[in-house]
Amino acid sequence: MARKKIIAGNWKMNMTPSEAVALVETLKPLVQNDDVDVVFGVPAIDIVPVVEACKGTNIAVAAENMYFEESGAYTGEISPKMLVDAGVKYVILGHSERRDYFKETDADVNKKVLKAIEHGITPIMCCGESLEQREQGITMDFIRQQVKIGLQNVTADQAKKMVIAYEPIWAIGTGKTATSEQAEEVCRGIRQCIAEIYDDATAAEIRIQYGGSVNAGNAAELFAMEDIDGGLVGGASLKPDFGKIVCYNK
Ligand code: PGA
Repeated sequence: MARKKIIAGNWKMNMTPSEAVALVETLKPLVQNDDVDVVFGVPAIDIVPVVEACKGTNIAVAAENMYFEESGAYTGEISPKMLVDAGVKYVILGHSERRDYFKETDADVNKKVLKAIEHGITPIMCCGESLEQREQGITMDFIRQQVKIGLQNVTADQAKKMVIAYEPIWAIGTGKTATSEQAEEVCRGIRQCIAEIYDDATAAEIRIQYGGSVNAGNAAELFAMEDIDGGLVGGASLKPDFGKIVCYNK
């Protein structure tokens, strides 16, 4: 079974609610591609207006984070129920910026993954090595650990529906993209890791994105690789260029 490509924007901490709606209006006609699941990952405050603006389109909305408790005294956090009620279908979890600046651990990411699944939200679980780790030759060891801990107590049937985003930290926001061979090598390694944790059928179904300076010029080559099922796109998702990335095969 061929895996459908999934291309998600990660707006990060950009776009006020009114700017967000204007961006959706600009991008809507540009991201028409039936071969691709299109997702906009937006700041929490933009979720409600962006879901509204995306009604009747092919665009699904993702949150950029979520807390792992149901409700209660967690000032400033957003619960899975709030996301579901607002119409969110995906949640980006364990992005390297959250791990780095907000000290999220693999165990935190695992709790969030389990909670999202429990509420029917599809996790886009991020992993990726630093430049230092790549130079030390421990890229795959590090990523295998992130993936294994992130997926603890996730069943094969649940894992099949998930998305994993491989994002080398040195390629994020730097304009320095991994070569398609480098990206493919790690994405294939992640798929092998999934096969070891579960089985070949699960590994064949789970979708693995590449992220890190994806742009209109490199998307087609990256997405043509066997184990790369789309992308998680930061900077270029805020521009009309995102339409070219989504329509990479047209
Ligand atoms: P970038 O960000 O495309 O701006 O490198 C990717 C990401 O962090 O998801």
